[in-house]
Amino acid sequence: MTAQIINGNELAKEVREDIAARAAKLTAAGELPGLAVILVGDSPASMVYVLNKERACKANGIRSILEKYDADFSEAELLERIRVLNEDPSVHGILVQLPLPDHIDGRKVIEAIDPEKDMDCFTVVNTGLLMTGQPRIKPCTPYGVMKMLESIDYPLRGAHAVIVGASNIVGKPMSMLLLQAGATVTICNSKTRDLGHHTRLADVLIAATGKRNIITADMVKPGAVVIDVGVERDENGKLWSDVDFPNAKEVAGYISPVPGGVGPMTITMLLLNTIEAAERRLE
Ligand code: GUN
Repeated sequence: MTAQIINGNELAKEVREDIAARAAKLTAAGELPGLAVILVGDSPASMVYVLNKERACKANGIRSILEKYDADFSEAELLERIRVLNEDPSVHGILVQLPLPDHIDGRKVIEAIDPEKDMDCFTVVNTGLLMTGQPRIKPCTPYGVMKMLESIDYPLRGAHAVIVGASNIVGKPMSMLLLQAGATVTICNSKTRDLGHHTRLADVLIAATGKRNIITADMVKPGAVVIDVGVERDENGKLWSDVDFPNAKEVAGYISPVPGGVGPMTITMLLLNTIEAAERRLE
């Protein structure tokens, strides 16, 4: 049996309708939601991401402030920009696109962001709130994956979720949200011995390593939910992801494609975080 597709584009559209309505309400109340995105350097991939974010903001009633700096922008200059944005009441969210150039200490930059405006949930304060079960801001990609699981009414309580990839951006925060939803969580990484042994136990399998086709069909439990977070474009422009989709979809019960899966949901959750930050301002 072929898996049902979890369509990230359709789901993102639904969530964005709610976002646009809430943005209009905020604007009418004098609190136009604003998101500042900072990009340092000229990575083409990062450029595509930030332009997508800008377009999504504009289409949904959120003011987008895009600040682009050359690769030689200094750490001190960047910290100063963050200080100014922290104090600007018209800015509700700040996102510094990663990776940063090598001469900049990314950790120092992230920690300079006011936790109230930390839309990625990258600061130690917000990570700690998430870990202690009181998230104020949810990290965009894991939050998007939770919405995808919610959209199929998946009963997470008691289910076994296996995450492949232990990054600070996806794997680790994903495990916290799943734990809080009552799942039993295993976190693997690309070096886990006999990875297939673990993934075959997964009712919900979340692949987030960035390693092409690391999840093959034989590693999927029949009927499982498979969410593919990894995405990479090769030198020929071909898009790769973590899951061997054509074969895995013949085994899984539900599966998310790339493109059109997690990607649109991640940006949507960034918009939602910005809306929620603006709404908190009115509380
Ligand atoms: N670079 C790749 N993914 C992300 C993300 O989720 N947030 C930020 N700030 N940079 C990224």
